[in-house]
Amino acid sequence: MREQLRELQEKALARIQAAGLLEELNELKLQYTGKKGELTQILRNMGGLSAEERPVMGQLANEVRDKLEEAFANMAEKLQEQAYQIQLKRETLDITLPGRQRPLGSRHPLYQAMDEIEEIFISMGFGVEEGYEVETDYYNFEAMNLPKNHPARDMQDTFYISEDILLRTHTSPTQTRVMEKMCPRLPVKVIIPGKVYRRDDDATHSPMFHQVEGLVIDEHIRFSDLKGILLSFIKRFFGEDQEIRLRPSYFPFTEPSAEVDCRCVICGGKGCRTCKGTGWLEILGSGMVHPNVLRMGGYDPAKVSGFAFGMGVERLAMLKYGVDDLRLFFENDVRFLRQF
Ligand code: PHE
Repeated sequence: MREQLRELQEKALARIQAAGLLEELNELKLQYTGKKGELTQILRNMGGLSAEERPVMGQLANEVRDKLEEAFANMAEKLQEQAYQIQLKRETLDITLPGRQRPLGSRHPLYQAMDEIEEIFISMGFGVEEGYEVETDYYNFEAMNLPKNHPARDMQDTFYISEDILLRTHTSPTQTRVMEKMCPRLPVKVIIPGKVYRRDDDATHSPMFHQVEGLVIDEHIRFSDLKGILLSFIKRFFGEDQEIRLRPSYFPFTEPSAEVDCRCVICGGKGCRTCKGTGWLEILGSGMVHPNVLRMGGYDPAKVSGFAFGMGVERLAMLKYGVDDLRLFFENDVRFLRQF
């Protein structure tokens, strides 16, 4: 038995020293000193020993157990420390690594232009209203003095959803919605920014584009008020040396109507490809609100008058930022967008 104990101790100590992992060590512990371990197994046979030998062997067995336990404890500590070092190494931060940058987005150039347009009008006392992109035939056409089958409906090629529902072709329908909401209060002085839809698509036309509508109604509003407000706006938007030119035009919802040009921002008015040699660029439609439109909005054209205008935001943004293809605004190429 003495021999057995000695052998066990030697073998166990050697295996403890060789253990590389804590789990391995715990298994060895079970195998040697556990309840069903080899040491216990040997001690079971103590019954076959003589009365003198039993205490000697008992003591010896205890010594072996103590030795093994000490070896287990030492080794456990060592392995623990090793594991800790490995963990430390793995968790070390390399603060010299370059940081990961998140690209910052920015406001889309069209909306930058729109924000600026809004700011200018707000500073002149206008409120901002929003209408609906999905409109009824009534607001988009009829309330704009375009009865069913009116030939001027062909001016705008329309996306119909049903007989009576369509994607608005201009922001003008919101004129009537604002009048209905405001009537009989005066003055009405709002701009209406938003998306509009028409069935054309080329370098200068997109099926979806943006307009800013303007509507002013009060007693004694004159054509010169329209001209003055638009000139102030253009000077603020493009620069103090800008000029405007009004040309007679036709819209069913204004009378008289005028198209407004500004000096070509590309050539400064000398004449170039962009302005087709004229030195002028068309930027918006406008006019005095038609009596029928005032009436349908609830106002009495005998007592009040007003003017309205509608400008294309893409057009203004192209001129302001020198962009020559409308489609660039909608392709969302970051190389383009990053320039703003
Ligand atoms: N609604 C017109 C268009 O889209 C523009 C306009 C608005 C003209 C208001 C006159 C008055 O072409």
